[in-house]
Amino acid sequence: MSTSSNITLIMLYLIPLIILSCTKLAFATNFNRDFHILWGNDRGTILNNGKVLMLSLDEHSGSGFQSHSAYIFTRIDVQIKLISGNSAGTVTAFYLGSEGDKRDEIDIEFLGNLTGDPYTLHTNVYTKGEGSREQQFHLWFDPTSSFHTIYVDGKPIRVFRNLESIGVPYMNDVPMKMYATLWNGDQWATRGGTIKTNWTEAPFKAWFRNYKGRGCVWLNGNQSDCSLGRSKTVKHDWYKQKELDLSSQEMLKWVQRNYMVHNYCNDHNRFPNGLPLECAH
Ligand SMILES: *[C@@H]1O[C@H](CO)[C@@H](O)[C@H](O)[C@H]1NC(C)=O
Ligand SMILES: *[C@@H]1O[C@H](CO)[C@@H](O)[C@H](O)[C@H]1NC(C)=O
Ligand SMILES: *[C@@H]1O[C@H](CO)[C@@H](O)[C@H](O)[C@H]1NC(C)=O
Repeated sequence: MSTSSNITLIMLYLIPLIILSCTKLAFATNFNRDFHILWGNDRGTILNNGKVLMLSLDEHSGSGFQSHSAYIFTRIDVQIKLISGNSAGTVTAFYLGSEGDKRDEIDIEFLGNLTGDPYTLHTNVYTKGEGSREQQFHLWFDPTSSFHTIYVDGKPIRVFRNLESIGVPYMNDVPMKMYATLWNGDQWATRGGTIKTNWTEAPFKAWFRNYKGRGCVWLNGNQSDCSLGRSKTVKHDWYKQKELDLSSQEMLKWVQRNYMVHNYCNDHNRFPNGLPLECAH
């Protein structure tokens, strides 16, 4: 597929809440229309006529939603407000994942922390079932004080290039659904699992709003149809983008230089037989 290398795959960029313009509102999509609850029963709910999705986590369960549609390439904008106060042990995730084995997956997970200690933004990329590509960041703002926008494929914190030419599988032929989940990860999430979730403060809640999915929807096992919402004809603005523009590249460097706290590509202990191929690029 000729567009396979177009999307400097994801990752995300977070900026403080932006006032939405009318044009953007026109594209706003609806959680009620596009998502269904996957687990957690009524711990997850959709509010305000589909505008807000709330997840909660208590001692018995977390909660999760899944999109109806699967996408082959997509841009997703969503605003997330994370658990405030003591969120240690919790994981709030927004990710794309394919179904079946040999999964493709693009993970964006916010690892909670004790009050006053920073959240960690944990990212990973799986291609054809192969993961172990973690990069972690601290944030340059307080993600609990208000909603923040995540651009998946916008101004980036991470780029995963198509390096199929050197034998690194890429996620360009299996559609992925969107997921929003909140769960207990206290086995590993906070300071390597040494700090556990404090259930006296449950239920924990995270909110998502102003979600906009502009993706190439997978139709009947056919190649993607890069349509805007229900229209079958409009191409997306991001679709032809092959590289980040210069200011985005600068932003990427700034984030990685100042806020990256872990990069698998520097983790020689983990890969004693050599770093993954893509790390040289
Ligand atoms: C929690 O805070 C500690 C201390 O500042 C920091 O080292 C760690 O990266 C933070 N995040 C997580 C998820 O542990
Ligand atoms: C859990 O939270 C409660 C209420 O904030 C606090 O009193 C208690 O000390 C905390 N427990 C631990 C193990 O930190
Ligand atoms: C692919 O789309 C064509 C029409 O464009 C349709 O006839 C065909 O059934 C589709 N293929 C599958 C596997 O559904």
